[in-house]
Amino acid sequence: MINSKSKTHVIWLTGLPSSGKTTISNRIVDELLRRGMKAELLDGDEVRKIISSELGFSKADREIHARRVIYLSKLLSRNGIIVVVALISPYRSIREEARKSLENFIEIWVKCSLQTCLSRDPKGLYKKAKEGKVTNLSGMQDPYEPPEHPEIILDTEIRDPEECCRIVLEYLSKEIINV
Ligand SMILES: Nc1ncnc2c1ncn2[C@@H]1O[C@H](COP(=O)(O)OP(=O)(O)OP(=O)(O)O)[C@@H](O)[C@H]1O
Ligand SMILES: [Mg+2]
Repeated sequence: MINSKSKTHVIWLTGLPSSGKTTISNRIVDELLRRGMKAELLDGDEVRKIISSELGFSKADREIHARRVIYLSKLLSRNGIIVVVALISPYRSIREEARKSLENFIEIWVKCSLQTCLSRDPKGLYKKAKEGKVTNLSGMQDPYEPPEHPEIILDTEIRDPEECCRIVLEYLSKEIINV
């Protein structure tokens, strides 16, 4: 059982566009709030509009954006808020930086094949990439480096969002009991 004395975590979801990060993150945060925990979602897209609107999608700009998200995560987490980050974060190096900078960092690989992501495409980004209207889309024109040792892998082609959320909550419960 997760309770208010629990240590805080930063739960970092990485994965291709349309893999399911936002969908699952929203569920995790809703469930934590329902259980009386303090939790906040930092969704890459939303946060970018506010604090990184001047940035593009080059490797350097993605790194700057991710560093800002790491900083925000640190501020929230040291004030007892569980932070859920939903960010493509395609480069291993910046995720390793996040791991080093943040206490109780949990890396989750939201795993989904490019083919399935292409068929989901809720934002139409893959379509735009195919038409050349979007460049630098991770997995298409840009690299996506999957995590080598994530704490959790959620295969969203096999498990539905509810099941994915349950796996994360169970992992958190075990972690907290071990404190
Ligand atoms: N098991 C699953 N988990 C999560 N999403 C799923 C799953 N199965 C199907 N979906 C669908 O896949 C889509 C995932 O979109 P979502 O916006 O969550 O992806 P994302 O990883 O946040 O993408 P982006 O990086 O572009 O923000 C949604 O339309 C969702 O309903
Ligand atoms: Mg998203």
